[in-house]
Amino acid sequence: MRRRGFVQVCAAGIGCLGAGPGWLLAASEVTPREYDTVQLVDRRGEPLRPSALEAGRNYIFHYPYTATPCFLLDLGESVPGRNGLRTRDGGTYDWPGGVGPGSSIVAFSAICAHRMAYPTQQVSYIGFRPADGGGRQGRITCCAENSVYNPYAGGAVESGPADQPLAAVLLEHDRDDGALYARGTLGGELFQRFFDAFEQRLRLEHPNAEPEARVRGEARVVPLRGFSRNVVRCGAATGGEPQDDAGT
Ligand code: FES
Repeated sequence: MRRRGFVQVCAAGIGCLGAGPGWLLAASEVTPREYDTVQLVDRRGEPLRPSALEAGRNYIFHYPYTATPCFLLDLGESVPGRNGLRTRDGGTYDWPGGVGPGSSIVAFSAICAHRMAYPTQQVSYIGFRPADGGGRQGRITCCAENSVYNPYAGGAVESGPADQPLAAVLLEHDRDDGALYARGTLGGELFQRFFDAFEQRLRLEHPNAEPEARVRGEARVVPLRGFSRNVVRCGAATGGEPQDDAGT
């Protein structure tokens, strides 16, 4: 079940990215990219259950590579899929929506699609900001230059300079063992650009591992506030500061 036959981007059909004229690229379909299926675990190494997640709180794990951070979010309400998302290369894809008992759990790459700001242990400019109490849903915002993404809509760009959605991480909730798994990505990946741009920095941030090594077996999930020492506020553009600093 977990290993069902994914097809990598452009592995089948027309419109391979970067390999054809513009009209052909516009017609391309971005299909899920399969990586290792890994179990999400808590800081003690125990399987992470959906009930352990606090709605609206930022959690971080690294997937599919040692140095590529992702957000795990329980949005607190059922999140339906969203069709017709589009990458900057013109590829389109359909996002499957939330998983878990309430279909409320989602995950996205935490690498901003604009200029690749990402959470480090020192600082995070990007994060989910919960609803401001005015009936508005929360958003993932990047304070670097104020890109705003909608996690209820597959990470689609709502405003700011980013030109494609955050890449989605495909999750699975196993009803038999109650655990959560990451099994691939969907959308405009930036991983190679990320490694090329930040190679030296990533080596310093991950001294005990190869930054480009695939994550295998399990991925540890921690609150963003427990990962980054300084979670930057975005002021009025964000609807408030992250509410993720309790109980870390
Ligand atoms: S890097 Fe995130 S908005 Fe520019």
